[in-house]
Amino acid sequence: MTFHHLFHWIYWSSWCPLLVSQNTLGHLRGLRLVGVVTSESRASRVPVRVSRDSIDFVRDEMLALIEDVEENKLYLGVVKGSVKRDIAIDGSSLPTNFDPERSLSYTAPLMTCYVEVIGEVVDGSLELNFSIPRPGSRVYIVTVDFDVAMLLRVPEGLHVGFHKFSGMRVGLDPGSLDYHVAVLGATGTGKSRLVKALVEEALAKTDYKVIVFDHTGLDYSDPSRWGGSVNVVDGSRIALTPDVIAEVLADRMGLANEQQRDYIFLAVTLYIARGILAGSMGKSSLASLEYAFKRLLENLDLESVIEGYFKLSKSGSFKWDFREFLEVLDYCLTLMNTWSSTRVKFKILSHVRVGRRFFENYLNGRSAIVGDVVEDILSGKSRLTIVDLSREVEYEAKKFIVYQFLKEVWDRVLESRGRAGILAVIDEAHNYACARGCEPSSGIIARIAREGRKWGFGLVLASQRVIDLAPEVRGNINTVLFSRVQSASDYDELKRWIEGLQFIEQTLPLLARREFYLAGLGNPFRKPLLVRVRDVS
Ligand SMILES: Nc1ncnc2c1ncn2[C@@H]1O[C@H](COP(=O)(O)OP(=O)(O)OP(=O)(O)O)[C@@H](O)[C@H]1O
Ligand SMILES: [Mg+2]
Repeated sequence: MTFHHLFHWIYWSSWCPLLVSQNTLGHLRGLRLVGVVTSESRASRVPVRVSRDSIDFVRDEMLALIEDVEENKLYLGVVKGSVKRDIAIDGSSLPTNFDPERSLSYTAPLMTCYVEVIGEVVDGSLELNFSIPRPGSRVYIVTVDFDVAMLLRVPEGLHVGFHKFSGMRVGLDPGSLDYHVAVLGATGTGKSRLVKALVEEALAKTDYKVIVFDHTGLDYSDPSRWGGSVNVVDGSRIALTPDVIAEVLADRMGLANEQQRDYIFLAVTLYIARGILAGSMGKSSLASLEYAFKRLLENLDLESVIEGYFKLSKSGSFKWDFREFLEVLDYCLTLMNTWSSTRVKFKILSHVRVGRRFFENYLNGRSAIVGDVVEDILSGKSRLTIVDLSREVEYEAKKFIVYQFLKEVWDRVLESRGRAGILAVIDEAHNYACARGCEPSSGIIARIAREGRKWGFGLVLASQRVIDLAPEVRGNINTVLFSRVQSASDYDELKRWIEGLQFIEQTLPLLARREFYLAGLGNPFRKPLLVRVRDVS
């Protein structure tokens, strides 16, 4: 029923038209008349004087309806900036028993607030308003007993929760997923649960294929949570590319010098190339290092070497051997004319900081190939893929694994040049999308944030701190759900990032667990709305 219909219905069906014409909405169950619009009313921000008996009822973030009877208009908005006043200071001689049902005569307000207008209710939908609610208009709070659907068609969207005070169901616009979502809040605020709600909804109500990177392994990786239809990939079983292995090795050895890191890079590449050459020559013994190095410099097709390496890893027939690697490394160091002291240093570091176990336990047994997993995602074979990164012990490698996956998806999406319909979820995103120290994952995340929407490739990033998301990532995220933040500097960042947070500063520290503001493109109400996240296991 539209407002106009409602108005007429109440008007004609009432036995007391005179009273009704002054107060139409107040008859509806679940709306509470709390005050009246005062002067300085604007189209977007409407000052309200709160009646005495509602002083202990009105709270910031409540949903309000402003009924302008004179102009026959109805506005929806959110209560902000409520303050209680001291009449001894504001006007001690004035009466305070203001009762908007009966009189608008001047009295000193004991409490005032603003209603930040979301829009005008016109024929069941919300429209941007330039009209200004008249002073004297009545202000009602929407309580949980009011059925908002009587006035407004609220789009269903992805059901994440309910407006905190009115209980109105809030759905995120699924069209906004392509434009990326961030979930931010201090530890324990309920980010991961909220992300799970988003994933569940995306799977149920859209055609997105979802890949989740589970940093801790605690939140997403239990298959029973998803009713079984999920592909959980163990991060410690993913075959790493040679550059990743070299990075991890060099980090382990504590090599900061670029040139010395390059030696490791060369040794890893040569080790793999020799292994593949030996296989292709049908020899059971290893190809000679001299031969492998010569081929590496001359005409070896490295792409097919890496392909071959993955193939052998998949079948478990590529073997990493500590002793052999030391030989290769020493060969490379000699070739590079390093001092013998450097050769000794590398040997010691390899033994003390890396060791046999790294090669035999960590590098061997990595039989999951990123390309295969991505193929299953893109072909629609698995709609939900969870990469459990908790078992990957090397911190550096986690970032590379995320990078390998996202890069593979990105490259294939660009190749096909059609809509991909992929949602990549990165919880604990400060480990992967930060401004410094998150390469190479941060680079590809920034690229997807920038260009992903063209290809239907959306990101959901959850993090405790706003500043831990690199500015070039943040700048391209269009929907933000945020709760209590860690510090004042996080709040300052939020304000710079998201419009319309003027009054939220007072409320933000008070938020309970599971309470998030929904702001940005995905919010069907245009102004940040306080949502209590639905039950999520
Ligand atoms: N929507 C919800 N439904 C049910 N319980 C919830 C919900 N949100 C939060 N909780 C409760 O709060 C706890 C913390 O939630 P969650 O793990 O999602 O927080 P978080 O913000 O991801 O924390 P961290 O930053 O430490 O990862 C949960 O273990 C659960 O008990
Ligand atoms: Mg979490």
